[in-house]
Amino acid sequence: MCGIVGVVGNRNATDILMQGLEKLEYRGYDSAGIFVTTGQKNSLVKSVGRIADLHSKLALDIAGSTGIGHTRWATHGKPTVDNAHPHRSQTERFVLVHNGVIENYLQMKEDYLSGHDFKGQTDTEIAVHLIGKFVEEEGMEVFDAFKKALDIIEGSYAFALIDAEDADVIYVAKNKSPLLIGLGDGYNMVCSDAMAMIRETNQFMEIHDKELVIVKKDSVQVQDYDGNILERGAYTAELDLSDIGKGTYPFYMLKEIDEQPTVMRKLISTYADQDGSMKVDGDIIKAVQEADRIYILAAGTSYNAGFASKNMLEALTDTPVELGVASEWGYHMPLLSKKPLFILLTQSGETADSRQVLVKANEMGIPSLTITNVPGSTLSREATYTMLLHAGPEIAVASTKAYTAQVAALAFLAKAVGEANGKKEAIDFDLVHELSIVAQSIEATLSEKDAIAEKVQNLLSTTRNAFYIGRGNDYYVTIEAALKLKEISYIQCEGFAAGELKHGTISLIEDGTPVIALISANEVTAAHTRGNIAEVVSRGAHILTIVEEDLARDGDDIIVNQVHPYLSSISMVIPTQLIAYYASLQRDLDVDKPRNLAKAVTVE
Ligand code: F6R
Repeated sequence: MCGIVGVVGNRNATDILMQGLEKLEYRGYDSAGIFVTTGQKNSLVKSVGRIADLHSKLALDIAGSTGIGHTRWATHGKPTVDNAHPHRSQTERFVLVHNGVIENYLQMKEDYLSGHDFKGQTDTEIAVHLIGKFVEEEGMEVFDAFKKALDIIEGSYAFALIDAEDADVIYVAKNKSPLLIGLGDGYNMVCSDAMAMIRETNQFMEIHDKELVIVKKDSVQVQDYDGNILERGAYTAELDLSDIGKGTYPFYMLKEIDEQPTVMRKLISTYADQDGSMKVDGDIIKAVQEADRIYILAAGTSYNAGFASKNMLEALTDTPVELGVASEWGYHMPLLSKKPLFILLTQSGETADSRQVLVKANEMGIPSLTITNVPGSTLSREATYTMLLHAGPEIAVASTKAYTAQVAALAFLAKAVGEANGKKEAIDFDLVHELSIVAQSIEATLSEKDAIAEKVQNLLSTTRNAFYIGRGNDYYVTIEAALKLKEISYIQCEGFAAGELKHGTISLIEDGTPVIALISANEVTAAHTRGNIAEVVSRGAHILTIVEEDLARDGDDIIVNQVHPYLSSISMVIPTQLIAYYASLQRDLDVDKPRNLAKAVTVE
C-alpha cells in the first residue's frame, strides 16, 4: 500500500526513482510523484493516475542526484495532485513521502499548526509541516525536529524526508510499514520493497520498527529512538531482474498463473529430499506436535488458502484447525485452546491486519509460524518460525501462484508432522509423487486456455452477478474463485456451499444467472452437487461445470485431471483463475491493477 523510493549520491536520481516507482506500482496506483534536487535547483512533479502519467509530465531538465518518490493508494483524501506525495512544509524547505496511516493527524494539526496553509487533505502533509515548524519556527536542528515529530506521531509509517537546504542526506524512519535501505557504490537508496532497486543493487539493509536512519551517499547510520547507534549488516536479496519482468506476457497475472507448475516443482525440491523424505525444519514440526489446536490467521486469498488446506491438515496431523480473519482477530480474539499454535499465512509478509494478530500472539506468548513468499518480511521476522513459499515475486494484484504455493507448503508441513507422529495415512501419502501429478494437471488445464476463454465469453461477458458452488474442499475453492472474479472483473460473485443455496440464496437465481459448479474428489457429494445444479438450472441459471475427470459426464465444460483429494484445491482453482483473467480481459479492464486495490495491504 503506497510505495516509496529515495536515492542520494552520484547517480541520476530521476532515472532511479522512476524505474523504482514502476516496480512498486503494484503497491498503489492512483497518483504518484517525485522530488529531485541538485542542491540548488529543486523539482517537484506529481500526477494523478499511473506512473506512465507521471512520466509524461517529466520535463527533460528534471535532474539531480538526490530525490524521493511515491506511488499512492489513497487513505486520507481523494487521489488528486494536491494529495499526491511528496508533500512539502509551509516554506517548501522540507519534502516528505510516507507509507502508512498517521492516526492523530487532526490532533497534531490542531495542537501545533494553526496558521499553516495546507494544499490537500492528507495526514502526511501535516507531518511535514510539523517538522518544518520545529526547524523554522522553533530553531531546532533538522534531525532533532524529525525525532520530535516521530515522538508525537501515532500510527504506522515509513518516512523518507529531504531538507532541500542540505541535499546530501535522506532522513528515514519506520514503524509498522515496510522499508529497506539499498546499498550502492557512491550512492544509497530507500525503498518499500527490494524489487524497486534490484536493478541498482542486490545489497539491502533491513530497518526495524522505531528506528531512524541517516542515509548519505557513502554512509548509512541506523539509530533507535533513544539515539543509540545500531550495527546492522547487509543481506543479499535473491531476486533476479527477469523474475520481476513480464517477459512476453501481456499481464503479470497470466505469467504468474503459468508459473504454477514450476512453483510446485520448486516446492518439491525445497521441502523434500531426492528419496522423497521431508525437509521441513524439525523445530517447526515439534511446534505443531506440541499444539493442541492450529489457528490459521490470514486475509483475502491467503485466508482462502488456509481454508483449502484445513481438511488435509487435520487429517494428517490429527490436530484441529481453526481459521481466523486477521482483521477481526487482531481485536476480537476468541477463547483459545490451552496450547495454540498460530500460523500466519501471508504472501507478502507485510499485511497489517495479519501483523496485528502476530503482535497480540507475541504479547500472549503464543508460538507462531509465518508462511510467506517474502524472506525477511515483517511477519517473517517477528514470528517464532518461518516457512517460505518459493513462488517467486507475485506482482499482479490478484494472487494466484501464492495461493497454490500456500496449499502445497501446508501439505509438506502436514505430511512431515503426520510422519513424525507415525500416522500411517501420512506415511502412505506420497506427496512428492502426488504434487508432481498436480503440476501435470495444472499444465493440462493451462493448455485449454482458448477453450476456457470462449466459455467465459459466453457466460460472463455482460452479467452483473454470478455464483460459484461446490461441496467439501470444492466449497473452499469456490470462495477463492469468487474473490478472484470479483476483484478483477467487478462481477459481483459469491462462493457458496452447494447444499446451502436452497436455504435462502437460491431466490437470487433468475433467467441467465451464471452459476459455476466445481465437482471433485467424492462421488457422494458429486451426486448431491449435480442435484443442486439441476435445481438452479430449472430456475433459469446458466451453468458451467468444472469437474475432475473420474466424475465427468457428457456435457461438462472444463475437465480437470484427477489428483489426490488432499491436493484438489490446487488443481481445481486453476480454471477459476483463468475464468477471472479472461472475464477481466474481455471486459477491457486492467487485469493486473484492478480499481481501488493494491498489493501488500499495509494499513489496517
Ligand atoms: C487477492 C489478494 C488479497 C491478499 C490479501 C492478503 O487476490 O491478493 O486478498 O491475499 O490482501 O495478503 P497477504 O497474503 O500478502 O497477507
